[in-house]
Amino acid sequence: MASHSSLLLILTVALFVSIISPATSQTCSTQNVLSAEKTPFQTCLDLPELESYLHYTYNATNSSLSVAFVAAPSRSDGWIAWAINPTATTMSGSQAFLAYGSGAGAPPVVKTYNITGHNLTEGRLAFDFWNLRAESLNGGRIAIFTTVKVPAGAGSVNQVWQIGGNVKNGRVGVHPFSPPNLNSRAVLNLTGTTSTGGGGSKTPGNAGWMMTNVHLGVNLGFLVLLGTIIIF
Ligand SMILES: *[C@@H]1O[C@H](CO)[C@@H](O)[C@H](O)[C@H]1NC(C)=O
Ligand SMILES: *[C@@H]1O[C@H](CO)[C@@H](O)[C@H](O)[C@H]1NC(C)=O
Ligand SMILES: *[C@@H]1O[C@H](CO)[C@@H](O)[C@H](O)[C@H]1NC(C)=O
Ligand SMILES: *[C@@H]1O[C@H](CO)[C@@H](O)[C@H](O)[C@H]1NC(C)=O
Ligand SMILES: *[C@@H]1O[C@H](CO)[C@@H](O)[C@H](O)[C@H]1NC(C)=O
Repeated sequence: MASHSSLLLILTVALFVSIISPATSQTCSTQNVLSAEKTPFQTCLDLPELESYLHYTYNATNSSLSVAFVAAPSRSDGWIAWAINPTATTMSGSQAFLAYGSGAGAPPVVKTYNITGHNLTEGRLAFDFWNLRAESLNGGRIAIFTTVKVPAGAGSVNQVWQIGGNVKNGRVGVHPFSPPNLNSRAVLNLTGTTSTGGGGSKTPGNAGWMMTNVHLGVNLGFLVLLGTIIIF
């Protein structure tokens, strides 16, 4: 029979696991988002701002990047957008895919914007893209799907995402200027295969996240080992 101290240790370990698990398991991996080929994307990321998610597959053979961007507009008549900025890490210059609801039963409207300032107007994009569409998901979320052509050999792209203001007669209102709305940009690594480890996954992408994951895994393994030694 286990002593009180072993029970206490088990409880402590269980508590520790339950506290840190949400931080390490990705929300995006629980989202059932499929590519145009009806298969899951190769990788997904919980983006660091605006409760937004990116599912993506990079095909180096023809330098195409298939994405599904998932986010909820800040209000029911608001919009969401995901963009690549080919020339800078800022919003200005972003080549954006922007979607908003178009009423019950109808799929969201999705359009392209060549962003030069806060007055968003539709425009052509600087790169080719295919299969652009948007879908309504549970919880007021919208998913934007597309495949874009990335310059051959590019190791990364600057991505910018946003959720925002009202849409009136097809004109898109400005987004809020709170810190999350201003920090919602990141470099998306397309070939981050140099970072290994973490459950044998060959997932490219955020090396920092992988490192944290391995680190916590080691800690957990150690704690479980410690628990086992003390119990037996
Ligand atoms: C990548 O693109 C090439 C060229 O279009 C194609 O032959 C190949 O099947 C694609 N790979 C995947 C995993 O879709
Ligand atoms: C590249 O491959 C993707 C995935 O197989 C495909 O959807 C896309 O049409 C291809 N693009 C070109 C330019 O071949
Ligand atoms: C925004 O752009 C539209 C279309 O180009 C124009 O009609 C409108 O006056 C502009 N609004 C502002 C505030 O500049
Ligand atoms: C986007 O807008 C900028 C500034 O007006 C313009 O120089 C550029 O040619 C536009 N891009 C495309 C693809 O039309
Ligand atoms: C992207 O990959 C490069 C080289 O592998 C690495 O130096 C960089 O830190 C990575 N960036 C992110 C955000 O993971």
